[in-house]
Amino acid sequence: MRIVLAIVIFLCLLAASLPVRGQEPGDLIKLGQGKFNDTCAACHRTNGEGLPDKFPALKGNPFVLGDPAPVVGTVLNGRQGRLGLMPAWKDTFNDREVAAIVSYVRQAWGNQAPPVAPDLVAEIREKKL
Ligand code: HEC
Repeated sequence: MRIVLAIVIFLCLLAASLPVRGQEPGDLIKLGQGKFNDTCAACHRTNGEGLPDKFPALKGNPFVLGDPAPVVGTVLNGRQGRLGLMPAWKDTFNDREVAAIVSYVRQAWGNQAPPVAPDLVAEIREKKL
């Protein structure tokens, strides 16, 4: 009996020490990767290289790696530019999902830029930047 009790206590302690799921930075990137591959990859491709003269590469793109605010703004509101139409996603994804997608594209394919917090997305959504 004692050994069973010891095992139960051990498992409880183990469970209590595990990080809260859904709150870890790694989870944000994973969420972003899933959403990116489901939606953005249709144009920008899963390898982030886009298509010449049609869809810009996000891999190694200074715009993507720079100030996060205009990147978030582009994803939320889309853009009609030289290459064509980048659709708006503000009605498709919530703040956490947009933060996850932008964080993913800033860290995938060798990109190295800091992740983006859902608070920044909320702020930019509010200001309609
Ligand atoms: C239907 C095709 C399409 C889809 C889907 C799409 N994009 Fe785009 N995206 C474009 C086009 C075209 C442009 C370039 C617009 C222009 O000419 O300025 C663009 C531009 C961008 C830029 C700016 C790049 C730069 O150098 O200025 C970012 C960042 C971006 N997209 C991210 C995303 C993300 C993240 C998603 C998914 C949520 C996504 N895109 C989905 C077509 C698409």
